[in-house]
Amino acid sequence: MSFEPHNLFVTGGAGFIGSNFVHHWLANGGTGRVVVFDALTYAGNIDNLAALEGNPRYVFERGDICDEARVRALLERYDIDTIVNFAAESHVDRSILGPDDFIRTNVVGTLALLKAAKSFWIDAGNKQALGDAAQRVAAHRFHHVSTDEVYGSLGPDDAPFREDTPYAPNSPYSASKAGSDHLVRAYHETFGLHTTITNCSNNYGPYHFPEKLIPLTIVNILLGKPLPVYGDGLQVRDWLHVADHCAAIGLALSRGTAGQVYNIGGNGETTNINIVQSLCDLIDARLRADAKLREMFNASPAASGGTARDLITHVRDRPGHDRRYAIDYGKAARELGYQPSRSLEEGLDSTVDWYLTHTPWWQALLGRDYDAWVRANYEPKKRS
Ligand code: NAD
Ligand code: DAU
Repeated sequence: MSFEPHNLFVTGGAGFIGSNFVHHWLANGGTGRVVVFDALTYAGNIDNLAALEGNPRYVFERGDICDEARVRALLERYDIDTIVNFAAESHVDRSILGPDDFIRTNVVGTLALLKAAKSFWIDAGNKQALGDAAQRVAAHRFHHVSTDEVYGSLGPDDAPFREDTPYAPNSPYSASKAGSDHLVRAYHETFGLHTTITNCSNNYGPYHFPEKLIPLTIVNILLGKPLPVYGDGLQVRDWLHVADHCAAIGLALSRGTAGQVYNIGGNGETTNINIVQSLCDLIDARLRADAKLREMFNASPAASGGTARDLITHVRDRPGHDRRYAIDYGKAARELGYQPSRSLEEGLDSTVDWYLTHTPWWQALLGRDYDAWVRANYEPKKRS
């Protein structure tokens, strides 16, 4: 059964993936409005959406997904038929140092969104046999963006995660995402809410906050700072370019079946150390070829004839660190027509270029809070 989304309510739309999705949808999607609802936590950045100022199809509303009454009122005010839920606390390391916000936003917040959606799309529609409200019972979609981390950790020869792989979350972050996935499923089974879930692998690309491995490594190379690699660096992730992920969510909205789950991967399995070394080599090459870049990033080793690989610093491992993630996206390929469109090499190359040409964007993020986070996370990991 195909569905045509019209007015979207995009929670967490000022974050990394959410903002990429909003740009993608407004450039490629239907004709309706996109209402971004975001609390603008440390990870939310209104600058990510600056290019949309003045676009009549775009509205920004600041708010918290735990505020069910506010969400319910906005669904009605903007005549929303589609929710895409990106809002979350998303960083595993932060969940180890402070899990409470993860339970609040990821579990309690998702429940509040589900309750507001049920109230607007199902309860109100059932009370009124004819007209717009009854129409909403038939035509609505609640799409929840989740993660491969809910499936736990794989051994080197294990088969990739499928949609029927049992849940085995290992961090407070992945446990909170698992809880939210179960609530979404329950709202479909119990109340008939038209839900879909995508569980995807590690995203990378533009607007990625520099606390995650790829943007942190790029920024630290450019600033000539140490590149922290947890443990032996042989942990494996499946890297998915954010543009491919956004396209997959668009397909899940229009072609996905209510109640179904789709795994989304990027064909990009590799070790962390390979990611870090590749970024070193890409940036070294850019700087060697360009005197202006050497002047701009004069603390980066290649600016004075060195190599960024010398910045690589092995630090203590993340507690409970999942060894390997891998995704079988066969169901999304068959049922949605999904395929990732670029290789990891192409994606890393264009991502490096994006950070080289968007220096003010990432420099603005490196303030006091960021430094405090870096100290809190990395000081205890230093090896004596
Ligand atoms: P992010 O941390 O960059 O952005 C999260 C956004 O949610 C921010 O804009 C923040 O302000 C907002 N937010 C946080 N708490 C909120 C609240 N209570 N109410 C409203 N807004 C709130 O995250 P991301 O990397 O863009 O991830 C988006 C979603 O995708 C998350 O649900 C995450 O679990 C999932 N996911 C991410 C990845 C990845 O590699 N980044 C991979 C798989 C799944
Ligand atoms: O798999 C999907 C998940 O990917 C998402 O659900 C999360 O929201 C997202 O943050 C990401 O989680 P990871 O923990 O895999 O991403 P992160 O970038 O934090 O780390 C990637 C790998 O690199 C991981 O094995 C830990 C390691 N790492 C990370 C940092 C920040 C390092 O070695 N050094 C670092 O400084």
